[in-house]
Amino acid sequence: MSNDTTTPAPATAPPLGVGMVGYAFMGQAHSQGWRTVSRVFDLPLSPAMAAVCGRDPDAVRAAAGKLGWAAAETDWRELIARDDVQLVDICTPGDSHAEIAVAALEAGKHVLCEKPLANSVAEAEAMAEAARAARERGQLAMVGFNYRRTPALALARRMVAQGRIGTLRHVRISYLQDWLVDPDFPLAWRLRRELAGSGALGDLGAHAVDLAQHLADAPLTGVSAQTETFVRERPLPGGSGASGGSGGSGADIRTGAVTVDDAALFTGRLASGALASFEVSRVAAGRKNALRVELNGTLGSLAFDLERLNELEYHDQTADAAESGFRRILVTEHDHPYLEAWWPPGHGLGYEHTFVHQARDLLRAIAAGTDPEPSFADGLQVQRVLAAVEDSAAKNSVYTPVPLP
Ligand SMILES: NC(=O)c1ccc[n+]([C@@H]2O[C@H](COP(=O)([O-])OP(=O)(O)OC[C@H]3O[C@@H](n4cnc5c(N)ncnc54)[C@H](O)[C@@H]3O)[C@@H](O)[C@H]2O)c1
Repeated sequence: MSNDTTTPAPATAPPLGVGMVGYAFMGQAHSQGWRTVSRVFDLPLSPAMAAVCGRDPDAVRAAAGKLGWAAAETDWRELIARDDVQLVDICTPGDSHAEIAVAALEAGKHVLCEKPLANSVAEAEAMAEAARAARERGQLAMVGFNYRRTPALALARRMVAQGRIGTLRHVRISYLQDWLVDPDFPLAWRLRRELAGSGALGDLGAHAVDLAQHLADAPLTGVSAQTETFVRERPLPGGSGASGGSGGSGADIRTGAVTVDDAALFTGRLASGALASFEVSRVAAGRKNALRVELNGTLGSLAFDLERLNELEYHDQTADAAESGFRRILVTEHDHPYLEAWWPPGHGLGYEHTFVHQARDLLRAIAAGTDPEPSFADGLQVQRVLAAVEDSAAKNSVYTPVPLP
């Protein structure tokens, strides 16, 4: 099905046709990025929002109109085949990432794929191999670890690379949510291993692992982990009696088994010699999207809290002890990362801007023919860490090496 709905706004840079699969949470966030990016940043390419794909014809047509896509498709294969699509943006659950990404790369399209890259190491390996082969033909692939593109975290990375906190000793990341505290929350796709790969681990832990490796500029070499599923049965969505249900207390409430973790705790070693610790949970009551990062080095520390995402805390250990302590850097200056084109200092950015920055970086890489980051190889490395965490947790936290590329 193809159905024209809107006409993209004219732009001076040459267009790059984008086709997006999935139009719910991430689809909306990515749409905002594609709609906004060339209206803020001066770019060598301008995204043309050619078509969006979903499975329900009426719903995808409505989404196309609302989100600003020129056409709607109901089969991702048709989307990939379109002549006006040069970049395929994958915003579906993990079970379809590998199939769509490999097909798009083999069809000569660039690919942006949401995280985690895949549901298994084997799938991620196939995707990384497809990306490597596509690179030789000029097509590029990137994973959507958008938190890298929060200006304060990009500044943290810059300061670490500049040696401002010396040799990194500790990376400490917690990423906590609470939407699964309620045991009656239904068995959505994120709670089913065959669709999501893992639970809080792949959902939140993937971001945490990517950030740790990115900020430290070093891979994790091994982990020791514990995972837990606190609520092991949940109502099937809509109270239906679909197969897989195992009985329930209400008249027409059937339940199914939760097959992923609610929370994961793990420690690890980075190749640089630093120690890392991680806590991720979707049952941390009161915590909505609490991503916190702290880095401690020989010369100082940096701390970030997503709930105050325009700020970075910095402690300079070399300062006079009488006046030293953490100080707040308001990351809204034009020479801070990503802020050259936004508002005057002090006016602040939000969550959605990370997706604008993601689109900016990918368009620039495609125009320049340079490798965008994080690459599919980076996504594969994260997948290997997630697998090592699950292996370790299954073996009573035994220290489990992460295979290096
Ligand atoms: N970067 C982030 O911060 C972030 C946040 C949330 C989710 N994600 C990731 O984004 C991906 C999607 O998550 P979401 O929260 O948007 O999920 P969602 O459930 O809100 O949306 C998924 C969309 O995919 C569509 N879909 C599923 N299978 C499809 C198919 N075969 N063909 C076409 N459409 C299909 C659904 O209809 C829906 O529109 C996941 O990989 C998730 O881990 C990333």
